[in-house]
Amino acid sequence: MCGITGFIGSDGAIQIALESLKRLEYRGYDSVGIAYPQNNHIAVVRATGNISRLHDRLGGDVPDVAVAIAHTRWATHGQPTEANAHPHQDCSGQIAVAHNGIIENYGPLRDELQRMGHRFSSETDTEVLPHLIEHYLHEAGDLVEAVRLSLRRVEGSYAVAVISTRYPGGVIVARKDSPLVIGLAEGSKLIASDIPAVLPYTKDVLILEDGDVVVVTPGAVILTDISGKTAHRSPTRVGWSIEEAEKGGYSHYMLKEIHEEPVAVRNALRGRIDNDRAILEGLTISPADWRRFQRVEIVACGTAYHAGLVGKRLMEQILRIPTEAVIASEFRYSDPLVDEKTLVLLISQSGETADTLAAMREAKQRGAYTLAIVNVMGSTLAREADGVIYTQAGPEIGVASTKAYLAQLAVIHLLAIHWAQQIDAPFLNDGVSRPLLVNELERLPDLIASALQGEPHIKSLADRLADRSCFIYLGRGYDFAAAMEAALKLKEISYIHAEAYAAGEMKHGPLALIEPGVVVIGLATQPTTNLKLWSNLKEVKARNGTVVVVHTEGESVPDGSDYQISIPPAPPSLMPAIALVPLQLLAYHIANARGCPIDQPRNLAKSVTVE
Ligand code: G6P
Repeated sequence: MCGITGFIGSDGAIQIALESLKRLEYRGYDSVGIAYPQNNHIAVVRATGNISRLHDRLGGDVPDVAVAIAHTRWATHGQPTEANAHPHQDCSGQIAVAHNGIIENYGPLRDELQRMGHRFSSETDTEVLPHLIEHYLHEAGDLVEAVRLSLRRVEGSYAVAVISTRYPGGVIVARKDSPLVIGLAEGSKLIASDIPAVLPYTKDVLILEDGDVVVVTPGAVILTDISGKTAHRSPTRVGWSIEEAEKGGYSHYMLKEIHEEPVAVRNALRGRIDNDRAILEGLTISPADWRRFQRVEIVACGTAYHAGLVGKRLMEQILRIPTEAVIASEFRYSDPLVDEKTLVLLISQSGETADTLAAMREAKQRGAYTLAIVNVMGSTLAREADGVIYTQAGPEIGVASTKAYLAQLAVIHLLAIHWAQQIDAPFLNDGVSRPLLVNELERLPDLIASALQGEPHIKSLADRLADRSCFIYLGRGYDFAAAMEAALKLKEISYIHAEAYAAGEMKHGPLALIEPGVVVIGLATQPTTNLKLWSNLKEVKARNGTVVVVHTEGESVPDGSDYQISIPPAPPSLMPAIALVPLQLLAYHIANARGCPIDQPRNLAKSVTVE
């Protein structure tokens, strides 16, 4: 999500900053820009679209400058337009800032700065930074101190690069919760959001830590903390190839994206929880409108549909409004029963899936209110739906969706809680009160991080099961919804036949499949139905199937299960988000052991833009 690069040397800064930026293209972006000090002012050139569009803007005669910062933007606040592209400037045009992350309190900061007379030219959260720095520069007289004072006012996450005519030979960089590295070449320095961008120039990098504020010049790196105290840290020598480095050292994007899940969910929740309330800014639905809706249709494809299955249960429990989850390709040809009293909730990572778009248009035509949960800013679904909530999970590159699913689940919870607040719903969520659910939702990134710790156990289990040819995933309630997604993960990347069943259906057919070698993965994370599930697993064991049980820490497991996967406990509706972490890892490690091309499985596409 967004990329920063920069070069601090003696010449060729623009070319090098843009070459480095190209190495960050894998992160995904929709606009691009560069800033450099030239003749006593800061020149800024920006473009929508890709880096070649910026080259066109710069023209054939690129100035030969010593310092430049560049940025690829993946829009979060404001559409992907040229005005919203980074770097952003202060009123005087003497300061330019490139930023990754989200400034949560940008609203009040912007109001404050506007009252002081600052003029804004974008819709971004980032633009408060150059104006804040301009303000504190007047007070402090020193640019680095002005950056520190500004960052102390900021809530949220950032990696920033600041240039100014006050400091034409250097760049000031800082980080909190968003990555940034400094490449240490002989006589020059590079900055970048990720190591691959600097690798052609140097393998020695200084990895910034939260709270670092660093002055970078061609010959020196002065490391301080946000209070100005000097700090020391040894550089790291990178042992990876460029290709390995793009994946952050992981062997596949899918594995990298699974490991990004705590951050993805944290970003999905960022700024959207206040004490025990969910806050969804930007939705223009009034309390009267929320009350008007008498039905909800959740419409999506693939993994997003599986997130919708969790949403169906949650909304019915919390809101007591009839809710259906429907596959988009089925919805659009079903003469759907939707009208102005229906909210049609469309879920999509890409926002470009043809069937989901067609379903949205069909629902709109029938008078329904269409609300989209989308990851990609400015996508067709985001633009055309009546309302949109972004998942803010960052770009997902692996074809098999992982972190987007978890972010979708987090946003579905925010939506259900927000809606319940609007209509004073009784909130009957398996006895879980609203404040408790909100608190547990806030803890979800930590619970996911804790589930990731189990990876070595999952890998050894994968090695043992990789040669099996039939997997059945069983669950009840929320566990059934999670089982559907877990089975999809395994089949799409390992090509092993995998099915999910409502555990109670076993005796109505699938039990006939059980014989030695068949693997049955039982999800037992729901206190109200766990005992029933155990009985189903015992029936499998009695027929010599291999039983794997996913259970919550501290809960006992059925006698005779062959393998156990333990995950941290949480309220029932959050368990699919936690259970999928080991089950995505299991699919990944099985596919890896079988030598499958995990990031591009055969016959599948990341975004399905045809029927
Ligand atoms: C494809 C992808 C899946 C995704 C589905 C829906 O099948 O491979 O990972 O879940 O499309 O895509 P969407 O972008 O609408 O979420």
